[in-house]
Amino acid sequence: MSDPEKPATIDFSPASLDRLFQAHRSEFDRDLADAHNDTGREAVRIKWLGRKQGKLALYSSGYMQQAPSPDAKKEVGRRFNELKQHVESRLEGLASGSQSETAAGEAAIDVTLPGMRRRPGAEHPLIKTMHEIVAVFEAMGYSIGVGPEVETDYYNFESLNFPPNHPARDTQDTLLIAGQEAKPLRERLLMRTHTSPVQMRTMERQPPPVRIVIPGKVHRNDAADATHSPIFHQVEGLCVDENITFSDLKGTLDHAMKALFGSAVKTRFFPSFFPFTEPSADVQISCIFCGGSGCRKCKQSGWIELLGCGMVDPAVFAFAAQKQPAYDAGKISGFAFGMGVERLAMMKYGVSDIGQFYSGDVRFLEQFG
Ligand code: DAH
Repeated sequence: MSDPEKPATIDFSPASLDRLFQAHRSEFDRDLADAHNDTGREAVRIKWLGRKQGKLALYSSGYMQQAPSPDAKKEVGRRFNELKQHVESRLEGLASGSQSETAAGEAAIDVTLPGMRRRPGAEHPLIKTMHEIVAVFEAMGYSIGVGPEVETDYYNFESLNFPPNHPARDTQDTLLIAGQEAKPLRERLLMRTHTSPVQMRTMERQPPPVRIVIPGKVHRNDAADATHSPIFHQVEGLCVDENITFSDLKGTLDHAMKALFGSAVKTRFFPSFFPFTEPSADVQISCIFCGGSGCRKCKQSGWIELLGCGMVDPAVFAFAAQKQPAYDAGKISGFAFGMGVERLAMMKYGVSDIGQFYSGDVRFLEQFG
């Protein structure tokens, strides 16, 4: 192909001028197509439009000098102007796509372009549910407490009346922290299996009366399936004062369930067992899907089991009394409860696979916005 450095090869007939300028145009188009960012495009601009060494400048002086006649000059000039217009408009077109050039050549922001839209975030459904539960108790005068996820055997089990080797420990398959064997059992660290240890931590810190809710994360060595996850969340509650009775427990939880699931919901209390409460109960609510007539969700029973509760066992008060003597089971009484946040959220929002909460899938999460 011809080049301004070798003007002797140029044939100034219109046909070969057309071929020549078409070749230049294609070369420029290829250069531009190969430039993938601003730096690349700037290099193309300098290569073609540079004032002294730019290709257009060289073509202009080279071809004009070589043109054998005024007519040939005219033919060259016309094609040259077309090529220059093409080069300039392609480079300019790209520049105004993102930024425009000021007279001084600095990049300026085009304020007429639409802004970048940031999509609004949404509270995670588990956090949202946890906040809703906590808010119901806050409205009844409860305060909020938290505690550590890495817990000692003493707070997670022993002080809650799970003695060493007691079979009740088997109901909470525990993740132990490695390398604890040299310590006495009560000091050994584990991942808390429930939020109940914060009951004891709270009582050790403050004498009665106590009304507290404790939201938090808990860990168990459970295999993940549609309804289990080795990490999940609970909200614990504890109320201790003079003359607290089982009626207070029933009234409080009945109100909480109505506040969370609607005033038509009924509750019933079934005898159960937890080492730290006596008596203990499982709370069932009338099925929110069928209203109690029986459906697949409630296995035709009309009831759904939702949380555990009971009157604080005097043995638990005895452990608290080692630090706070006011926890004298002869003078005070109390109730406690604990509920799984995932289970409540799954019911409330009709989620059938617990794994959805941890998937990070925006299509799932954005539905709670
Ligand atoms: N900690 C129990 C569990 O994780 C739940 C529970 C039951 C908590 C009864 C309580 C309670 O405070 O009174 O299975």
